[in-house]
Amino acid sequence: MTTPQHSIFAQGTVAHHFLEFDLRRVEPSRAVAAVAQLRSPAVSAGGVNLVIAFGATFWRETAPDHAPASLRPFSAVVGPDGRSAPATQHDLWLWVSGSAPDVVFEHARAAAKLLGDVAVLSAEQPGFVHRDSRDLTGFIDGTANPQMLEAPQVALVPPGQPGENGSHVIAMRWVHNLDAFEALPVADQERVFGRTKVDSQELEGDAKPPTAHIARVEVHDDAGEELPIYRRSVPYGTVAEHGLYFVAFSADPARYDLMLARMFGTSTDGVHDRLTDFTRPVSGSYYFAPSLTRLAELA
Ligand code: HEM
Repeated sequence: MTTPQHSIFAQGTVAHHFLEFDLRRVEPSRAVAAVAQLRSPAVSAGGVNLVIAFGATFWRETAPDHAPASLRPFSAVVGPDGRSAPATQHDLWLWVSGSAPDVVFEHARAAAKLLGDVAVLSAEQPGFVHRDSRDLTGFIDGTANPQMLEAPQVALVPPGQPGENGSHVIAMRWVHNLDAFEALPVADQERVFGRTKVDSQELEGDAKPPTAHIARVEVHDDAGEELPIYRRSVPYGTVAEHGLYFVAFSADPARYDLMLARMFGTSTDGVHDRLTDFTRPVSGSYYFAPSLTRLAELA
């Protein structure tokens, strides 16, 4: 019996901080001991949620019996017209979330300090909840997300498999061109996503173009069953540069590959997602968030 990292599913958090690290050349056991300390009160107490996830190489070396066969680093996706999603894989990913930016910042800093001897901070991004969970384009993000009762089934590796109750993470920073998007009439903006702007109603029939975002990312297996993911993205940024820090959790990383192929025009129909005309990813990594039980064993 293993327990997942509950913070994956934490609700009501408006402040977020994502950190990516690369390990220094140290004994893996030292790195593991340092990561294990992250569950200490200095980092994870005081009202914040913490999710810890590892890159494929480190996790496979550290816990080979608990690494899913499908675990691998993120590969760049390059579409036929040159639009692309770059790979910027690192070794370790932390997600700190909470009710206010001050506590989240303090805990993110404490985590980085604890890891300082074994890992270099390579990228970080604070994020925030925008109005009623809207992307900066003004569209509600999360409408079709699995509800709380289904989310664990969608996000976690099933019992009995290597890595059980762990989760495959995708993290990508997207930079929006809001001026270009806002220049579209609202009806055209709605066709970009395939949903209405005010209340996120799905456009029906021919009203939803095949290039609409939700038409591209709804993917199925060979038997026609939908392959869902559990999304936890948040907006971020400054006036000069802003967008979406896209984060999702899944029982199987192949779902991300299918969705990205359909967004960037590398799937068989060659169509790209209209959304990629208005936003572009500048980072992309896959991680594995093992169960709390495995993390405790590492400690
Ligand atoms: C800047 C990038 C992105 C933005 C602004 C964005 C925004 C949105 C919005 C507004 C929706 C509709 C409401 C909802 O159901 O949540 C949506 C749906 C969705 N998005 Fe994205 N998204 C982005 C990137 C991605 C990526 C990279 C993936 C997958 C790898 C993805 C997967 C999904 C899925 C699975 C849905 C639900 C589709 C459905 O079944 O209706 N999105 N997104």
